[in-house]
Amino acid sequence: MKPITHIAIIMDGNGRWAEARGRPRAEGHRAGAETARRITRAARRLSLPALTLYALSTENLDRPREELAALSALMRHYLDHEVPSLIEHSIRLRVIGNRKLLSADLRRRIASAEKATAGGTAMTLALALAYGGRDEIVRAASALAEKGGPLTAARLETALDTKGLPDPDLLIRTGGELRLSNFLLWQSAYTELFFTRTLWPDFTGVKLRAAIAEYHRRERRFGRAGEEVARPSAKLKKPRGKFK
Ligand code: FPP
Repeated sequence: MKPITHIAIIMDGNGRWAEARGRPRAEGHRAGAETARRITRAARRLSLPALTLYALSTENLDRPREELAALSALMRHYLDHEVPSLIEHSIRLRVIGNRKLLSADLRRRIASAEKATAGGTAMTLALALAYGGRDEIVRAASALAEKGGPLTAARLETALDTKGLPDPDLLIRTGGELRLSNFLLWQSAYTELFFTRTLWPDFTGVKLRAAIAEYHRRERRFGRAGEEVARPSAKLKKPRGKFK
């Protein structure tokens, strides 16, 4: 069976879940945070080395002030209360995204949660907050431009927020939309995509296992064909020849 080391999830559908119940959107986000906890445990039980959850995009920052306040309160609550459980399960928390777009208070809580869970070796949980793939690439390229030297794919990877994390093998999007919405644009070049209509608060460990089973049915070719497919990933390798 192909290895699976990293799953990334776009947790979409909280608002619709709440609206369908005649409840405020914030209630959908609360249910979504509960699902994030449940799926983190499920991933850990499956011995998955890395899980990335898209909790807030750079574009989400344009949402109404009350919704952002509710999301920020949820994040603060999550960062303050989830740490003991993350430590217990040997899960290291890492936040990716543009921290300059977060309040000083949130940044402090993130730094403290990251420090407290730094010893976790069983799984990395990357929480994407104020994250945008284009923003990440521009920040990485700017950092390298300041340092000088050649811009290579390998160097760019060392400047991305995801430095050290493997590229996702599988990207799941709940909520029925069929797009990446600026998530892990660089890292998902050869990621298998799995879309489900299930709204995020209704997503379960069973549905996660079904997505993984679907992943195992796929053939990953990394742009190659025939017996070449069996070779390990050619990621970042120079092409062998020109197309003439
Ligand atoms: C998209 O649903 C979801 C978000 C913008 C936020 C995701 C946040 C959470 C799941 C809760 C916080 C998580 C943690 C780990 C603390 P949407 O509002 O776009 O839903 P809609 O498409 O139905 O409107």
